[in-house]
Amino acid sequence: MGVEQKLPHAQGEAAKFREMKEGTAEDWAIIGSHFKDFAGGVADRVLDHLRLLKGDYGGFPICRLEHSLQTATRAYRDGRDEQYVVMALLHDIGDTLGSYNHPDVAAAILKPFVREELYWTCLHHGHFQGYYYFHYLGMDRDSREQFRDNPHFDFCAEFCEKYDQAAFDPDYESESLEFFEPMVHRVMARPLASLYKFTEDAA
Ligand SMILES: [Fe+2]
Ligand SMILES: [Fe+2]
Repeated sequence: MGVEQKLPHAQGEAAKFREMKEGTAEDWAIIGSHFKDFAGGVADRVLDHLRLLKGDYGGFPICRLEHSLQTATRAYRDGRDEQYVVMALLHDIGDTLGSYNHPDVAAAILKPFVREELYWTCLHHGHFQGYYYFHYLGMDRDSREQFRDNPHFDFCAEFCEKYDQAAFDPDYESESLEFFEPMVHRVMARPLASLYKFTEDAA
């Protein structure tokens, strides 16, 4: 099912303002009534976007979707909790839209739904993953050292060592995306924190 089929309320009752400064409480009641359905579809939209990584190899031994599944599977089989596994599954989802800063994109998507150390790990995993290859590209493999004093340093380093850098094995049998879908739905069912929480409450 395509993303466009999951956008509810594309038409129908709508706010009357042409500039937001003309808005009324009635307008915002209408918008607020639509928000919950729309926001509730975020897990499906994220999963649709993750599927865009399928078949995209970029010279790696396995495609980016398989790498994502393998990273998540390794974390899952190592007994990590659901928030952790979902972070592992989505950590490279930004490759398509954020080709020059993919960790930022994934971290922004995850931020409302996971605890701080997981958000931080996703946001900075590019520097930590670089430990394993930056020196082959004329870059500094110790780029991660700039974060040495951060309380999440070891946590992030462990994610890259155990799951991310280890997840390029074509012979590893990962769980399917369908296996992880319910976890994504549960973790993204409601935000732990959001700028727009008030809107959810009003819906
Ligand atoms: Fe990455
Ligand atoms: Fe990765």
